Amino acid sequence: MKDIPEISFDDHDEQVSPRPEETGFDQVVEAALSRRGFLGGVLAAGGFATLGSVLPSGARASGARFPFAPIASSTADAVTVPPGYSARVVVRWGDPLWSEGTAFDPETRGTAASQALAFGDNTDGMEIFSHQGRTLLVVNNEYTNRSIIWGNRGDDAPNADDIEKGLLAHGVTVVELAAGDDGWQIVTYSPYNRRITPQTPMDITGPARGHDGMKTAADPSGTRCLGTWNNCGSGRTPWGTYLACEENFNGYFSAEDPDHAVSPALKRYGVSAKDWGYGWAQIDERFDVSKSPNEPNRAGYVVEIDPRNPDSTPKKRTALGRFKHENAECVINTDGRLVIYMGDDERGEFLYRYISDGVYAPGADTDALMENGTLYAAKFHDTGAGEWLPLTPETTGMSKAEICIHTRLAASAVGATTMDRPEWVTANPNGPELYCALTNNKNRGIKPNAGGDLTPVGGPNPREANKFGQIVRWRPNGGDHTADGFAWDLYVLAGNPEKLDDTRRGSENVTPSNMFNSPDGLAFDSTGLLWIQTDGNYSNAEEFEGQGNNQMLAGDPVTGEIRRFLVGPRECEVTGLCWSPDRRTMFVGIQHPGERGNSHWPDGGASVPRSAIIAVTRDDGAPVG
Ligand code: FEO
Ligand code: CA
Ligand code: CA
Repeated sequence: MKDIPEISFDDHDEQVSPRPEETGFDQVVEAALSRRGFLGGVLAAGGFATLGSVLPSGARASGARFPFAPIASSTADAVTVPPGYSARVVVRWGDPLWSEGTAFDPETRGTAASQALAFGDNTDGMEIFSHQGRTLLVVNNEYTNRSIIWGNRGDDAPNADDIEKGLLAHGVTVVELAAGDDGWQIVTYSPYNRRITPQTPMDITGPARGHDGMKTAADPSGTRCLGTWNNCGSGRTPWGTYLACEENFNGYFSAEDPDHAVSPALKRYGVSAKDWGYGWAQIDERFDVSKSPNEPNRAGYVVEIDPRNPDSTPKKRTALGRFKHENAECVINTDGRLVIYMGDDERGEFLYRYISDGVYAPGADTDALMENGTLYAAKFHDTGAGEWLPLTPETTGMSKAEICIHTRLAASAVGATTMDRPEWVTANPNGPELYCALTNNKNRGIKPNAGGDLTPVGGPNPREANKFGQIVRWRPNGGDHTADGFAWDLYVLAGNPEKLDDTRRGSENVTPSNMFNSPDGLAFDSTGLLWIQTDGNYSNAEEFEGQGNNQMLAGDPVTGEIRRFLVGPRECEVTGLCWSPDRRTMFVGIQHPGERGNSHWPDGGASVPRSAIIAVTRDDGAPVG
């Protein structure tokens, strides 16, 4: 296909809205230099061990053992798992979810009508729910690769049906699973199966509901919007609902006039006259930002979905803020308040915490818990201490609704720490401890973020032009998730110890046999192992030589040891992880295999590559986490 960008969402955003190269550059350089001594000392003295000493070792959670033998990196166009484990495909992009759907047609790659009844594309965050003896899988379908979904068109431009097919491949899929002789399969007659798409009606809740900035011609009340898209990581509430997190929502808006200038507030989120190639404004005017300038304010939220009620209206929870949400990790604090940790995945953006005003009581009405509460942004100090900065009218000069719509501006106003692209956050089940993947940030110490905030080297972001990424963890003071302060350290600095000698070799727990780059998905299993999924450079060349395709590893939070468990097929990202209720199956998402044209996974031969969810089991039937 012509005109299909081969660049990432982030690079697209920087192209259409260049970062201010010169702003405070001298300060950035000064900060970088002063921090280099810090990192050099840490690595020279043993890296992880020294950083680990930030936290009192006696308070560490109890250990977990690895139940598998580590595997080598791979460039094969296949899923590789350790001996004694098996992986099989459960559902692929385009598989019909209902018996009246049509089987995926590799010639046409489907139509809008077939896609409406089929599993969406590019699987991402997912959760399993048990309901009345049924097993319901809820999964995000983040985006589409135009070169694949429209690949049948050759050099011809996509027609209106192609564009609608792409649109309908986005959103969320709810599908019942049942275990048969061949393992887990989708139940195509289930009344719970559902596609939630960019066209599904949703309620806007929380402080931004009804605000002028949320009103459009189609919805003058600012209370009801259509759809969700670019849903990245997931979350689950203690009351059994699913959280779909809207990430790169901006890349779907464009303007007929290529010179149309958007407001500074929209520019902070990368909204521009140019979309990422999806063409949605061609079939729906609300995606033309010159015609519907408030429509982008109605995306970038966490959406709550009740999978137990297929007729329920999803709720956009504006109280959780508007940014490029990765996932939403919910914990119930000892006092009963709901605390949600969330990353904003863009270079130099922030890490957030939400605390509900009310307390959770099983069986009681939970609707207000994600409507009334306070957002905080994290500030990290080089000492190993950190603090949560409240985003309130007093601290930001913004109204409560404005804070929820223009959350990035609010966090900038309080001086939160610019981060190396915060991805998933996960809570250790063995104690009040959180982990967040900071996937990479080539602008660290080089350029400010989109709002002009400086990105000095230091703290949990210790490497300039960071290509490999790291995982930061923190413990709330006193074990209280609502405490103002926390203590942090780095669990791992990814790198390549085989090829590189400087800080890019990574921390001590990175070795030639487990190395990786760009940690993204993170989830603890019930045994306390930390699972790490990657979405990084899969060239297997130069500084990434030896790392192979994207992969999934497991880490012991106590010893720091990391082992490679799974390698994905070519050009994929491994993302999304959940377990069957009996813990004997681990579901893993394989996203965008062959995004650059070099995979035929999962069907092999000359087939079209298709994003899919796989089920990983042990051959002896034992639990897998
Ligand atoms: Fe959709 Fe930040 O990954
Ligand atoms: Ca991700
Ligand atoms: Ca990603």
